[in-house]
Amino acid sequence: MTVLCIACYFKGNEFIRACKQQGCRVLLITSQHLADEPWPRDHLDAIHYVPEEDEDWDLDNLIKGVSYLARTEAIDRIVPLDDYDLEKAAALREHLRVPGMGDTRVRYFRDKLAMRQQAQEAGIAVPAFVPVVNHEVLHAFTQQVPAPWVLKPRSAASAVGIKKIREAAQLWQLVEELGDEQSFYLLERFVPGDIYHVDSIVYDRQVLFARVHRYADPPMAVAHEGGVFATHSIEYGTDEEQALQHINREVIRAMGLLHGVSHTEFIQAHEDGRLYFLETSARVGGANIAEMLEASSGLNLWREWAKIEALPPGAAYTLPAVRDDHSGILLSLARQFHPDTSAYDDPEVVWRMEKDYHAGLIVASPSLDRVKELLASYTERFYHDFVAVQPLPDKPTS
Ligand SMILES: Nc1ncnc2c1ncn2[C@@H]1O[C@H](COP(=O)(O)OP(=O)(O)O)[C@@H](O)[C@H]1O
Ligand SMILES: [Mg+2]
Repeated sequence: MTVLCIACYFKGNEFIRACKQQGCRVLLITSQHLADEPWPRDHLDAIHYVPEEDEDWDLDNLIKGVSYLARTEAIDRIVPLDDYDLEKAAALREHLRVPGMGDTRVRYFRDKLAMRQQAQEAGIAVPAFVPVVNHEVLHAFTQQVPAPWVLKPRSAASAVGIKKIREAAQLWQLVEELGDEQSFYLLERFVPGDIYHVDSIVYDRQVLFARVHRYADPPMAVAHEGGVFATHSIEYGTDEEQALQHINREVIRAMGLLHGVSHTEFIQAHEDGRLYFLETSARVGGANIAEMLEASSGLNLWREWAKIEALPPGAAYTLPAVRDDHSGILLSLARQFHPDTSAYDDPEVVWRMEKDYHAGLIVASPSLDRVKELLASYTERFYHDFVAVQPLPDKPTS
């Protein structure tokens, strides 16, 4: 089995290692400027670089390059390691007729307009939305749906480029400024509420494993205003947890995810208490969610995904035994180059972030109350010890 991994950012080492351990031949395509990153070279059979001058990864070049590679490599699977690699992987699969999700299906995991429509058609509640295409339709939306709204890029991530809008005049000004880019955006009602994420392992269209977590503050508020990002698991088996498990399964079914992993988000509206579908993806969630989830369950999403991709034809995937502990993570930008978190020394601390100008911890315990208690007190201490606020970039940085 030969697995071709595609990564336009440095990530997925755990996936690469696990693929190799499953006995696969593992190839990586990444950008020349990521050549010096600590890729797990001892677990890679070859690395191919997209040259610096092709920084946006022209699709035609990529197809030709990978087809050239395919003259001598029998590529069985093509796996995108970052969200932005999904379309590339799909286009390559379509061209080389490699099994897995093609252009149409991948679109439901990358295009927020497509996923909105698909969810709505399946009867799943979504915030009122409208494409930024026809101005008369957009105008009618602003008349019918009360502000505030959010204007968001259809295919970005990490709250990049999302704007909260309070009135129609502001909207039209932004739309005008966007010019020819406007059709790559959608507008939707801002639904105030608590934001949850459900991270799943899917095999043969079935959700075999899913864990529900709630963000302490909405990611948009953290991205726009800075501060501490935190999320933690919720009590198992409660009505709240069951409802999220249920709507997550409905979303995965509606989007037609065949197999792999998914990070899917929901808003529980303050107004009516209902769950609204926010967004889905066919990847491991960012912000070290994989490490947090491993701390409570013992299961690593990258590793399980690799096992699924590396399955020989005819073999079936079985989920390993999992623990039902609790865990939470807090992360923030730090004023210090190498912030010292050693004073955060409760035995529940199971992971510390090692990244310049960042501070981060994961805590785990059989008790949810203990996890929440630690997160609350650590968050307060983080503001005092580390937090630095930096304006959100217009373009993704990592
Ligand atoms: N319709 C909405 N109502 C309320 N908050 C929203 C809405 N859409 C987005 N947000 C906020 O923006 C954040 C990012 O939006 P999302 O659609 O998840 O895009 P991404 O995470 O890919 O940047 C959400 O976590 C939430 O805080
Ligand atoms: Mg999101």
